[in-house]
Amino acid sequence: MCGIVGYVGKREATPILVDGLRRLEYRGYDSAGIAVANGQGARLVRCRGKLAALEKLLAVESPRGLTGIGHTRWATHGRPSEENAHPHKSGSVSVVHNGIVENHALLRERLTAAGRHFSSQTDTEVLAHLIDQALIDGASSLPEAVRQALRQVEGSYAIAVLSDRHHDEMVAAKKASPLVVGVGEGEMFLASDAPAILDKTRQVIFLEDGDVAHLARDQVSITNLAGQPVERRPKTVTWTPGQAEKAGYPHFMLKEIHEQPRAVTDTLRGRLMLNNGDAVLWEKEVTEIPRRMVIIACGTSYHAGLVGKFLIERVARIPCEVDLASEFRYREPVIGPGDLVVGISQSGETADTLAAMNEAKARGARTLAISNVVDSAIARTSDLALYTFAGPEIGVASTKCFTAQLTALALLAIHLGRRNGALDDIGAVRFASDLIQIPFKMSETLQLVGDLKELARKHKDAHDFLFLGRGSNYPIALEGALKLKEISYIHAEGYAAGEMKHGPIALIDDGLPVVIIATKGNSYDKVLSNLAEVRAREGHVIAVATKGDTEITKYCQDVLWVPEAPPLLQPLVTVLPLQMLAYAVAVVRGHDVDQPRNLAKSVTVE
Ligand code: F6R
Repeated sequence: MCGIVGYVGKREATPILVDGLRRLEYRGYDSAGIAVANGQGARLVRCRGKLAALEKLLAVESPRGLTGIGHTRWATHGRPSEENAHPHKSGSVSVVHNGIVENHALLRERLTAAGRHFSSQTDTEVLAHLIDQALIDGASSLPEAVRQALRQVEGSYAIAVLSDRHHDEMVAAKKASPLVVGVGEGEMFLASDAPAILDKTRQVIFLEDGDVAHLARDQVSITNLAGQPVERRPKTVTWTPGQAEKAGYPHFMLKEIHEQPRAVTDTLRGRLMLNNGDAVLWEKEVTEIPRRMVIIACGTSYHAGLVGKFLIERVARIPCEVDLASEFRYREPVIGPGDLVVGISQSGETADTLAAMNEAKARGARTLAISNVVDSAIARTSDLALYTFAGPEIGVASTKCFTAQLTALALLAIHLGRRNGALDDIGAVRFASDLIQIPFKMSETLQLVGDLKELARKHKDAHDFLFLGRGSNYPIALEGALKLKEISYIHAEGYAAGEMKHGPIALIDDGLPVVIIATKGNSYDKVLSNLAEVRAREGHVIAVATKGDTEITKYCQDVLWVPEAPPLLQPLVTVLPLQMLAYAVAVVRGHDVDQPRNLAKSVTVE
């Protein structure tokens, strides 16, 4: 969840590292640092705070050299501080690291007993000591020293290593944390995430678990931890660097909210057959009809899973459970052959989801990953992968990946329903033509909703918000509450509207804004009654309602209009006003929308 960059080549490394870190800052942002090597050894510059603080230091004195590594950190072991910022140096070795060294306490004890002195509280520092010690003990090369060190390490890592004695080379290695090598002309780049280097090269090698890569100006050679060579060919990455930038919007989150019609279209592209209503998801026919499905995910992806249950059960008539990944793996799940376990993860790296998928696999279930990152850890560990094509999501609060996940789940429901006969010809063609209309309805929704500045000003000082919804809009109420919480820091709860009178109704008074999803559909009348109950207790009602509904305005102070959509697909439009509301409130409150406090984009620790 932190960001790593590296460079070895013919240009000054510092500006290249800083540029890469800027593109990666979303991955972790409580401290930053670089190490740059030249004939005199490596020089470190590190500090607490965002990248701007590091840039200030570098403006005073910028280390010179053609090889370097850099890092932005989100603290796991040790508080955010200069000593705990990466790179960490021991003797001649400097290291940056993402992940967690699980046996760091034991290793630290051993190294301390051998006379080594530690200057940080991080787990990472043990790596620098181990590699330095291996060089002192006579390792034949820097890659060999790294291999010897890593063989003693338990846990996850993506690392980049510099040595004072080998100033024109660098070593990188990974296990359960992403790392890519960018192949240039007479120069090599390294990053934890491809967008950091895409403006430099499109030729990218995705390192695999156990790989140790030795990077020099003109070549990269890769071995496994035992030192045996492995071959990894560069792939051409088609994401443009511009896709990862703000494109004129003040925040990535706002840009990504507006990208949703495109993200959904891209996820449907080439998969949805309008002539027969089928969804073709894989090149070969690999589908086995499961007796039961279990969806596992965290956070926003979990909410997508809750909507997925409605889609799968209604369209494919397959029983479907949804579980939080962090709960699933510890409750001895009853799972096995015949079950399909679907892991949903935008990043494809979330530690809990990855572990839960491995647990399901070990118990004999078939596994399917829905991921936005091609070749992500969760995708690689699964039997099948279904990618969302939302493009890189930089804003920490997930928006476009959520609606792309809902789209992928709708496609999966169709795919299974067609194959088990639950979805007949007429129903399939109707559902497919409804689905293909959704991106247009999303664009219309964004226009209808507008910027919501006024509404945000009205409620910016509220202490709590309640979000209510029924059926497939209940998960959207949960998602609306999560979005508001994470970027506006206002407490919010999502509830099934029918549950209101079983408790939360006690909260309602004239200071509580209540957002109710009251679109036309199966439970419209029931939601209207819930709405009346809130109004009767002076609650301030903000309704998400279907355009043209004249009845609703009698019951609420504010309405956020959405176009009419079939009930099963409504979540794809009803979530948009809630994303916009959270965004507008956070902006009015003056918060850092793209990098909210205490959060990181991908959570690679449990
Ligand atoms: C909220 C958010 C998080 C993620 C969660 C899972 O806006 O982004 O709740 O949804 O951390 O992440 P992924 O989908 O990468 O597994």
